[in-house]
Amino acid sequence: MSVGTMGSERLRNAMVDQLAADHAGKGLLLRPEVEAALRTVPRELFTPGLPLEEAYDANAAVLKKMRGAEAVSSVSAPYLIAEMLGQAADALGGLEGRHALEIGSGGYNASLLRELVGPSGSVTSVDIDPEVTGRAVACLAAAGYRDVDVVCADAEHPVAPDRRYDLIIATVGAWDIPPAWRDQLTDDGVLVVPLRTFGMTRSWSLRRHRDRLVSASNRQCGFVSMQGDGAHEMRYLDIAGGVHLRLDEGQQIAPARVAGLLAQPREEAWCGVSLPPITVLADLNLWLATRLTDETQFVVLSAQEAAVKSGVVAPSWRFGTPATLDNDSTFAYRSALRWTDRRFDLGAYAHGPAAAAAAGRMVEHMRAWVDAGSPAPTLHVLPAHAPDGDLPVGAVLDKRHSRLVLTFTSREKGTP
Ligand SMILES: C[S@@+](CC[C@H](N)C(=O)[O-])C[C@H]1O[C@@H](n2cnc3c(N)ncnc32)[C@H](O)[C@@H]1O
Repeated sequence: MSVGTMGSERLRNAMVDQLAADHAGKGLLLRPEVEAALRTVPRELFTPGLPLEEAYDANAAVLKKMRGAEAVSSVSAPYLIAEMLGQAADALGGLEGRHALEIGSGGYNASLLRELVGPSGSVTSVDIDPEVTGRAVACLAAAGYRDVDVVCADAEHPVAPDRRYDLIIATVGAWDIPPAWRDQLTDDGVLVVPLRTFGMTRSWSLRRHRDRLVSASNRQCGFVSMQGDGAHEMRYLDIAGGVHLRLDEGQQIAPARVAGLLAQPREEAWCGVSLPPITVLADLNLWLATRLTDETQFVVLSAQEAAVKSGVVAPSWRFGTPATLDNDSTFAYRSALRWTDRRFDLGAYAHGPAAAAAAGRMVEHMRAWVDAGSPAPTLHVLPAHAPDGDLPVGAVLDKRHSRLVLTFTSREKGTP
């Protein structure tokens, strides 16, 4: 065994040990077969030119291809790949013998899938970018995975007419679910997809039930955006140096409405709860979006590290925090947590004419989520033509091809 191979194996095992520990820290299980695949595939063969240490960074997407300031392709971060493969395997009860379509190539995830589906399954990988498919083919061959079918096409459309897959796993950020994704699934097949709702992206595992999809799980994530016919617009509006509002497709806010917002005095409100660190606050953020959109304009706040350090803003998560903007330009957002003895309280900060009321309103919704047992959302995806009467009772988001409905089922306190 060469020194390089020893270094690769050691780093790979260290990475997987860390992934298993990080899963446990989030209350998740790294499935044994996913763990075995991660310990088998030499990731450095899919990250040519990178130092081994960078190839085995559990939390970093690497080999980013940029178009201007925007990344359009990357080899995804191992932690996210592991979580999404886990979602797929959980939803399908294992992946052995399954036929899988990966949307967005690179080779690494496809080779893990190849390990997971085994000799009786199949893996097809599609990417819109010929440079990416060229690299994927070369890397897969170098790693000995010659039986992955790599296709260069816009995956918004069917990849092979009449072909059906048990699993479609999108590794690119979508704003909508194109009909082709549902139609290429077998009956009760599973789609795993990073999908943006209310400006926030979650990887959803969605099981097909005839013409609709219903979620089994979701994970917080971030991905490069879809290109081609399914491309969607996301814009950023500056509200202070290094602080932005992320505007979802169709959202309009005049810059004059947000000028000087954060310079106004700050009001704050707190829930008065004491929650354990394992609480999944990504679910709370979707809860807030579904509750607040009826009452005011819901937006997502993001901030650069320097802005947070300077104290201009103190968001719950600087990459995407729920926020509201009222007609009178009162602005409120979910604040950083307040910790006491390894437990935390939830709060809101607000600026503007009705700041105290806006912070109080946000905190009321957070308290309601805690009182409901911190429920996770379920996402229902129906065709665009589905009549209102067919929709489950929940928050409805109409997209181009589909009607999305988010529902929350209250849990008894103390149940898992
Ligand atoms: C994060 S990368 C994929 C990572 C990869 N699965 C891996 O193993 O690391 C996302 C890819 O999606 C591709 N993509 C974007 N829009 C697409 C579309 N409409 N159809 C197919 N591929 C697309 C991009 O070219 C990019 O290479």
